[in-house]
Amino acid sequence: MVQIVNTSDQRGRNLILIGFMGTGKTTIGKDVAKSLGFRFVDTDELICRKAGKSVPKIFEEDGEAAFRLIETEILEEYGKMTNQVISTGGGIVTEKRNHPLLHQAGYVVWLKASPETIFDRVRRNKNRPLLQVDDPLQTIKQMLEDRTEFYDAVDDLSINTDKLTLEEIKFGIVESARVSLKLT
Ligand code: S3P
Repeated sequence: MVQIVNTSDQRGRNLILIGFMGTGKTTIGKDVAKSLGFRFVDTDELICRKAGKSVPKIFEEDGEAAFRLIETEILEEYGKMTNQVISTGGGIVTEKRNHPLLHQAGYVVWLKASPETIFDRVRRNKNRPLLQVDDPLQTIKQMLEDRTEFYDAVDDLSINTDKLTLEEIKFGIVESARVSLKLT
């Protein structure tokens, strides 16, 4: 597939989804990409492809710092392209070096959810190494508290998903992205 590369100083024509694990970035992102006619990419998936192993394996064998380095490389690479919905891993904002990259890549939407909603969504999933702990709900609460300032520093729009249907969330994102990215 031919990709148009953004070589100007302007922000890219992409929609970037940020937010904690389990806030629906992938599910919503795929839907939104269809509506906008953009391609969907997921940084976790691209990291796994590059590393040749799963997220838990990267954490276990190479450590979180190695995971974060590949995450930045992927963000740099894909942030230069256009017409994409980029779903990012929940911890991408914890590296300050990623903040200007996220901003440059395009319009950044932060999906929010309460710790209880998140816990409910991720409790049966073993694919998230940072939540394989004795008290995941407490860990979620703490991590959310620690990360809020970082999400806040990079988002253009935030949406609290707790009381909204998928359709409502999608509508809000698509319409605001159309205006912000000047899509006709
Ligand atoms: C992480 C979130 C995960 C994945 C990795 C680390 C985090 O992505 O990148 O397990 O630090 O919050 P999702 O947010 O897609 O689950």
